[in-house]
Amino acid sequence: MDRIDVRQATAVDHSRIVDLLTRSWGSTIVVAHGVVYDAATLPALLAERRGRLAGLLTYAIEGDAFEVVSLDAVVRGAGTGTLLLDAAAEQAERGGLRRLWLVTTNDNLDALRFYQRRGMRLVGVAAGAVDESRKLKPGIPLVGDFDIEIHDELTLELRLPRPGSRP
Ligand SMILES: CC(C)(COP(=O)(O)OP(=O)(O)OC[C@H]1O[C@@H](n2cnc3c(N)ncnc32)[C@H](O)[C@@H]1OP(=O)(O)O)[C@@H](O)C(=O)NCCC(=O)NCCS
Repeated sequence: MDRIDVRQATAVDHSRIVDLLTRSWGSTIVVAHGVVYDAATLPALLAERRGRLAGLLTYAIEGDAFEVVSLDAVVRGAGTGTLLLDAAAEQAERGGLRRLWLVTTNDNLDALRFYQRRGMRLVGVAAGAVDESRKLKPGIPLVGDFDIEIHDELTLELRLPRPGSRP
C-alpha cells in the first residue's frame, strides 16, 4: 500500500476540496450545532496518496477548542481517517488548545466507533438538532447509515494535554 501524506491544504487544492465535500455531504455547506459552515472556506488538512486526494479534515478554531467540522476518507478502512485525526490533534496540542471536538449524527455508528476507538468521549446528545439543521440545509437526508432515521447530534471530545506535558 502506498504511503499516505497529510499536509495543510492551500488555495490550489480548493476545487478538489469542493468536489470531495460535495460528493460526501451534498454540498460544501455543513450545518452543526446551529452553525452553518461553508467547509470549503475553512482551514483544512488534506491526505494524499501518490498525489491523489485520499481524505480531508476541515476545522474551525475558537477559544481553546479545535472543532473538526468535516472528516472524510475517500477509501475507508485504509488508515486515512486516523492519520487526519492524529494530525489535527497534534496541531491543536502544539497550538496550546485544550480540546478537540466534533459533532456527528445518531445514524453514524461507524464514526461513533471510530472516534471512541481513538480516545474521544461522548459528551453530549442534542435530541432533534439535525431536524433543526435540516431547516437550514434541506438536503440533509432523512434516513442515514443502516437505514436509521437521522434526528440527533452527538458531540465527541478529546481533551488535549498542555504542550510539553507529555512524558
Ligand atoms: C469515519 C471515517 C472518517 C474513518 O476514516 P477511515 O479512513 O475509514 O478510518 P481508518 O481506516 O483510519 O480506521 C477505520 C477503522 O474501521 C476499520 N474498517 C475496516 N474496514 C472499514 C470500512 N470499510 N469502513 C470503515 N472502517 C473500516 C479499520 O480497520 C479501523 O478499525 P479500528 O478502529 O479497529 O482501528 C470514514 O469512515 C469516513 O469517511 N466516513 C464517511 C464520512 C463520515 O461519516 N465522517 C465522519 C463525520 S463526523
